Amino acid sequence: MARISIVGLGRVGLATGVAFAKLGHEVACYEVDASKVDAVRGGRSPYREKILGEELRKVLKKGNFRATDNAGDALVGSECYFICVGTPPLDDGSMDTRFMTDASKGVGRAIKGRKDFPVITVKSTVVPGTTEKLVAPMLAKESGLSHDAFGLCMNPEFLREGTALEDTLKPDRIIIGSNEKRPGDVLEQVYSRFESVKWRCDIKTAEMVKYATNSFLATKVTFANEIANVCASFGLDSDKVLEGIGLDSRINPKFLVPGAGFGGPCLPKDMKAIISASKSLGYKPLLLEAVLEFNERQAARVVDMLERELSSLDGKRIALLGLAFKAETDDVRDSRALPIIHELLRRGATIVAHDPAATIAAFGTDLAVKQVSGIRDALENVDGCIIQTSWREYKELDKEDFAMMKHQIIVDGRRTLDGKKLPKGVIYRRIG
Ligand code: UGA
Repeated sequence: MARISIVGLGRVGLATGVAFAKLGHEVACYEVDASKVDAVRGGRSPYREKILGEELRKVLKKGNFRATDNAGDALVGSECYFICVGTPPLDDGSMDTRFMTDASKGVGRAIKGRKDFPVITVKSTVVPGTTEKLVAPMLAKESGLSHDAFGLCMNPEFLREGTALEDTLKPDRIIIGSNEKRPGDVLEQVYSRFESVKWRCDIKTAEMVKYATNSFLATKVTFANEIANVCASFGLDSDKVLEGIGLDSRINPKFLVPGAGFGGPCLPKDMKAIISASKSLGYKPLLLEAVLEFNERQAARVVDMLERELSSLDGKRIALLGLAFKAETDDVRDSRALPIIHELLRRGATIVAHDPAATIAAFGTDLAVKQVSGIRDALENVDGCIIQTSWREYKELDKEDFAMMKHQIIVDGRRTLDGKKLPKGVIYRRIG
């Protein structure tokens, strides 16, 4: 079993650390945010996750997992380091490498003078070339070691919010990017208890696999949205059509659920970063750009559908159900709720919002939106309703709930309700 240091207690760092500790490794996590460290030490996951908190408490009790904001304490003497810090977007969409730089410096200082070949692995999503051009030189500079005195790997993550630990423990594949055999072998050994396929490649390829995966998923969702929109023009049931194509094993049914578009902290950000990096190298990725543009229009399309039913949105009171970018999370980053809110306000509507977990304040910008805590309070006396997140609570909406509305018009942006089972009098429209 290895002594492992994790840098960054974001969702990825925490899930990775808990997974490694669960499988027997000795794990020390370093995080600059003391409030996160306190939560984790107290056995509380700072993130809304299914089993992460429970499993965290188990490894804390077992004694082979700890968290600290003291870099020396967490980083000195480990055999393997995993850099799991965020790579948020800059204003132009390109990747902000600030946290990567800090993390690389911290690890560099911690491995100063080492003669036992520590292996440093980048798990953060970084554009191809970052590990070799930014992380490696920083490690060498801060540690005073030559490049062959430490190992370097890139090991992207594919976990989804809400199921972070499950996805970390049972990924479809473990991508091990290394330019030399020795560090790749060390990393493969660290993962030896994971049953998933281990796939080896060079560092830059591993970096790109992550972007290509998220770009594909975003494109697949967009394709489903496009087909659903085309089906609507033909008066066809797009669910049936998408079910039909999903039976082709080359396509499969996953990520084919149409709706208001994809959101979240990863898919849009990663697409913007790879588009920006690619353009800076002289290639304009037309398809990827179109996917992003389509995604913006899809959100506006939801509002168009409601406007069509009401003739005009000016002066209308609209309920917005769901602020989070998907169900089972309180995360609103790049949520499609935001473009929907902007469109509704631009067209003169007033908005009453509801979400079981996310808040309007989390958007971090002043929005003229009233948030209420009860679903019925949101529906009371409204001219129409948009469902933006497919929370379980919304799937259970019933006759009494709809009766609160002045006009029982629902535009379902997430395939949340079954239109055939709704009470008489409810006008139900869904995207596609
Ligand atoms: C995504 C990827 O699924 C993970 O593999 C990846 O590790 C992660 O980004 C990341 O890069 O960290 P996540 O952001 O948690 O995970 O969200 P998803 O479950 O992939 O959903 C993304 C968006 O697509 C949501 O807004 C969702 O509502 C939408 N979506 C998804 C659809 O509209 N239709 C679908 O069929 C599937």
